[in-house]
Amino acid sequence: MSLFKKKNSTPLLIPNHIGIIMDGNGRWAKKRGMPRSMGHKKGADVFKSITRYCRDIGVKYLTVYAFSTENWKRSNEEVSGIMDLLREYLKDVKNYTKDNIRVKFIGDRSALDSDIVALMEETENDSVNFDAMTLNIALNYGGIPEIVNAVKSIVNYGVSVDNIDAALIKSYLYTKDEPDPDLIIRTGGEYRLSNFLTYQSAYSELYFTDVLWPDFKNEDIDKAVLAFSKRNRRFGDAK
Ligand code: IPE
Ligand code: IPE
Ligand code: MG
Repeated sequence: MSLFKKKNSTPLLIPNHIGIIMDGNGRWAKKRGMPRSMGHKKGADVFKSITRYCRDIGVKYLTVYAFSTENWKRSNEEVSGIMDLLREYLKDVKNYTKDNIRVKFIGDRSALDSDIVALMEETENDSVNFDAMTLNIALNYGGIPEIVNAVKSIVNYGVSVDNIDAALIKSYLYTKDEPDPDLIIRTGGEYRLSNFLTYQSAYSELYFTDVLWPDFKNEDIDKAVLAFSKRNRRFGDAK
């Protein structure tokens, strides 16, 4: 755990909830003259090791952006390659019961293949009692569709106007029982959230790095956590 070995004057504050926009797989592959699928493959390996590292340093919730509601615009070949990687991961994750990580999925499952949905449900059920960390995998996820669905449900249930407040809206989101992300990391050098945790990120600290996701290392988490530790989260106060 290199994080704790480093000598630095800032006391490290481990975020309770980290969100990661894992971007740059395609460019990583292109730089090497490889097909984009190779970037996704390497990216999946990095995802597995970073997940464990976050658990080891005491992060309690990790939400990773695996596939957005906009990513269907990509070629069939690329989309089916990503789905195949997901199948592989979901079959594999069963062997890692010792990881003690609870896995949940956020996003719209209705557009996903039924065998994938079955594997997702199995993974969620099998890991329900694991408590070292909760891993949310955002799959066919978009923050705006999430809010639209919440509004539809609220109207559908006939909730009276007087009862609608921020907590009520939150209770209709995928992350209803979870704290909002303290820190959102985006790799790949773009400065945007691309529909990730739109409602939940209202007061998140944002950290952008040029490192492409397949090159991302434990030390890059350390750098982000160190930067987070130096931030002054005022939440509108005058402190
Ligand atoms: C992120 O990497 C993975 C997904 C969006 C599924 P990209 O595939 O977007 O990589 P770049 O941004 O094209 O390099
Ligand atoms: C965001 O990355 C989605 C994921 C990382 C899964 P994109 O590569 O899809 O985002 P844009 O298109 O650059 O905004
Ligand atoms: Mg991208």
